[in-house]
Amino acid sequence: MRKETVIIHGGMDRDPHTGASGVPQYLSSTYHQEDVLDHQGYDYARSGNPTREALEKAVAGLEGGAGASAFASGIAAVAAAFILLRPGDHILLPRAVYGGTYRLLNTIFARWGLGHDFVDFTDPDAVRRAVTPATRVLFLETPSNPLLKIIDLRAMVAIARERDLMTMADNTFASPWLQRPLELGFDLVLHSATKFLNGHSDVLGGLAVARTPELAERIYFIQNAMGAVLGVSDSWLVLRGLRTLAVRMEASQKSAQTLAETLSTWPQIRKVYYPGLPRHPGRDIHFSQASGAGAVISFELADKESARNFLRRVRLPLVGVSLGGVESILSYPATMSHAAMPEAERRAQGVTDGLIRLSVGLESPDDLLEDFRQALAGE
Ligand SMILES: Cc1ncc(COP(=O)(O)O)c(C=O)c1O
Repeated sequence: MRKETVIIHGGMDRDPHTGASGVPQYLSSTYHQEDVLDHQGYDYARSGNPTREALEKAVAGLEGGAGASAFASGIAAVAAAFILLRPGDHILLPRAVYGGTYRLLNTIFARWGLGHDFVDFTDPDAVRRAVTPATRVLFLETPSNPLLKIIDLRAMVAIARERDLMTMADNTFASPWLQRPLELGFDLVLHSATKFLNGHSDVLGGLAVARTPELAERIYFIQNAMGAVLGVSDSWLVLRGLRTLAVRMEASQKSAQTLAETLSTWPQIRKVYYPGLPRHPGRDIHFSQASGAGAVISFELADKESARNFLRRVRLPLVGVSLGGVESILSYPATMSHAAMPEAERRAQGVTDGLIRLSVGLESPDDLLEDFRQALAGE
């Protein structure tokens, strides 16, 4: 089946017991067992729930994986991935990862004995050189947050195969509609389902999708043993949101392209970061591994004051953290996603005081541009 069809029929398709047009919310925490030596597939809701399973099946199908596990948040899915390792192991990752992933490795997993190093993943040779005998995993996000840096997924798979490493991609920004790292040989894909998968800014959730049945089984073991499962109603909401993933991504991406091109011509805007722009670094690599540029843009105003004024004056987009909703969301990385990073390092990475990230929703791009124009008047 093509991806559009998998989205509609891959998970929420008809309740097998009643023919209802969607899988119901099975809210029960426990199940009657006709035969205590051989129950009918379900015994306790942490171990298995038909609603959650429908979501897991749908996302596994979309990503081209053997199986998926749904977690209470994206960061719980990332933590489950790191728990696959052992104290003494080592992870390589680019500095440009989600701040919560950075915090998890820097605090909890550092204390637990899991080592990590940051390396420039846009340079495969640098990654190759950084591998140590203890390295077990290459972990990345592409396009990255907030500067949409592009990493060559195939090159990372090649390095991992040379050095017997596991590959993990946080695919939150691209979504499986645009990019499927497992099909390029990645072992594990992670998602903050809070973003594009659900798409309506009303659920916190995460998914881990494995390429092989063996890895899917190990992740399922962690999901059940550690217990950070996605709740039933939230699973159902993500399933419902997922059904419009294709149309939402296509529409938001189209608007994002228009906005990126237009904003590039405005005098108040110093720089626009978007893989759909002709001179975006890594653009060719991105389009060799993804079918579209996505719905997230970043742009730079002159300084902190200009950014602050703009964010105070805009009327349509929500100003806050998160992305991937039907409504456009503007974020200010300096005090939001990168607040914990020392100022000098943040600036050195290109996350300047004038940088703004825009997750493009489903509003008319003309209305968004009009709003931005009034918000920038006088700058
Ligand atoms: C790329 C990425 N990964 C993971 C997460 C964590 O997800 P959650 O907030 O659902 O725990 C986020 C959240 O912003 C994210 O942007």
